[in-house]
Parts: sequence; C-alpha cells; structure tokens
Amino acid sequence: MEKKIKRIGVLTSGGDAPGMNAAVRAVVRTAIANGIECVGIRRGWQGLINSDFVPLSRESVGHILSRGGTILYTARSDEFMTEKGRLKAVGTCKMLGLDGVVAIGGDGTFRGALELSRLGVPVVGVPATIDNDVGCTNYTIGFDTACNTAIECIDRLRDTMQSHERCSVVEVMGRNAGFLALYVGIAVGATTVLVPERPIDFQKDVVERIQDSRLAGNTHFMIVVAEGVGSAVEIGKQIHEAVGMDPRVTVLGHIQRGGAPNARDRETATRMGYYAVNAFVEGRSNCIIATQEGGIVEIPIEEALAMKKHLQMDRYRIMEIMQYGTKQNLFGI
Ligand code: F6P
Repeated sequence: MEKKIKRIGVLTSGGDAPGMNAAVRAVVRTAIANGIECVGIRRGWQGLINSDFVPLSRESVGHILSRGGTILYTARSDEFMTEKGRLKAVGTCKMLGLDGVVAIGGDGTFRGALELSRLGVPVVGVPATIDNDVGCTNYTIGFDTACNTAIECIDRLRDTMQSHERCSVVEVMGRNAGFLALYVGIAVGATTVLVPERPIDFQKDVVERIQDSRLAGNTHFMIVVAEGVGSAVEIGKQIHEAVGMDPRVTVLGHIQRGGAPNARDRETATRMGYYAVNAFVEGRSNCIIATQEGGIVEIPIEEALAMKKHLQMDRYRIMEIMQYGTKQNLFGI
C-alpha cells in the first residue's frame, strides 16, 4: 500500500528568480488542501543541514504571489557537496518527520536533489532560474520576468544611444547560457548577440555586423553580451580599437533577478508548485516538474539532469535580417 504523505518540506536554492514565492505558495496551499503539513526550509540545502526551518500555513504564504525574491532565502551550499553534510540533511528530514522535499531551483539544486533521493529522501524538483538553462524543461520560472526587465533597461539605453549616435555594449546575465541574451537580443533589435555557447569570431560577429548595420543606415548600435562570454568592458575596448567608436558599457547584473514576477511566471510557478505536490500525493517522487510543448510532465531526476537544451540558432539569422537584410538587398543587387 502507498505510504500516506503527512508532511513535506519546501526550499529554494541557487540564484533566486521572480516567481519562486509563487511556487512556494502553490506548494504550501496544495499540500494543505491534501491534508499535508508543510515546513519551509530556509537557505536552501544549507538550511536542511542546519535545521533552519519555519512551519508554513495557508496564511503565512498570503501576499507573496506578487513578490520577487524568495521568502525562504536561498544559498549555495559547499557543505551539501560532502557526504557528511548530506547525512546531516537526512538527519534533519528524519527529525522533522518529512516524507519528502520540494526543491525549487536550477540544475545545481537538482544535483543536490538527486543525492538526497539516493539517501532515501523523496524529492520533487521545480525549475526556477532566470537563465532558462535546465535541459529537461522548455521553461524555467523567472525567465520571462528577467527578459522583460532587461528589455525595459535596454529600451531606455537605446533612447540615449540613438540621440548620441553611439554604440552600446550591454551585459546581461547568463554565466553558462545565452538563452536570456538571445531572446532579449531579438526583442530589442540588437546589432549582434554574443553567447557563451557559440565561439566568437570578433571580426565577423561584431565588427562586420556593426559595419553592415551602418551601411543599412543605422547610426547607433546595440551589442548584447551574455555574462559568460567575458568582460563587456573588454569588448567595448576592442570595438573602440577596431572601428574607432567610443562605446558605452552597461552591466545590468542582479537588477535582472529582482522585481515582481509577471503573469507568465506567476501562472507557471503556481501550476508547477501544484503538480510537484500532486506527484507526492499520487505516490510519485524523485522527478522534476517540467514544461514540454505547453503541458506539464514529470521527468526522473537522473534523466532530467542528462537532458540538453540548445539555443535556437535560427534566431541569429532572424536578427540579421531585422538589422540589415542581406548584403545583396543592401546594394539592390
Ligand atoms: O541565476 C542565475 C545567474 O543569474 C547566472 O546567470 C549568474 O551567473 C549567476 O546567477 C550569478 O549569481 P550570483 O551572483 O548570485 O552568484
């Protein structure tokens, strides 16, 4: 017979993302609706090691749906990487009588979830990171809000770059992934986008793009750089040396991680949180809740971690066409 789940823990781990609170709220309220108690583990996996917890009620997650950040705090834990640390975490689960844990975060969080599940604690993962770089899911909570924040900032930059006929180099987040940069690049009409997944040929990817854009009649240029590519300041200097312009460099940084989650992130987080608890209720665990072709699916953690998601390279071609068409078109040939 299936073991009746009585109490679960919920935690947020890794970089925060707008919508994490909405997911916590959904987990708590779905649990309570199914007669399950919910304990908030603060500061991610480290909190599980340190027995850093807070009981959560229906009311305690009121008015957090629209709040950015995470009320449970978040952290990256070196101690959880060690067996000793993980055994301590298992001890906390036993002490609190947890029948399972919902872990909200990115791939790093899910690697922790896999280790914990191997020690006998059932875990369900909910993907939340502004980088959208979790292979098993089309979408991670926080991505859309972060894109919109970056777009709003870049639109402002464009106003002043246009007035002064300047070149702007904008660094957006993405240590290992260019999903945010490429998506935002299309949405702001970037001259070019540099991402960590694609080796950079500075002459072709930057210099020639600026030149072609100039020939097409543009007098200001927007270079979007994902953080993982390297220093935006350095890229600005190289542009100066190569084409003689005097670029202005802006690093958007953690601005992109804050702010109220938008409609897509609130709605997705609420559905994912619901389905995470639903998995426990129906006797399933050790899986990640993912979106695929619009629907929600459960994927075993180990399989999920092995899945890869690739940038859609056709977006580069689309960007080029928006900027300057083809060279043939340019000269009317
Ligand atoms: O949330 C993901 C991410 O934004 C990455 O793009 C970035 O490299 C990283 O977090 C930085 O996070 P922190 O400054 O908190 O270490």
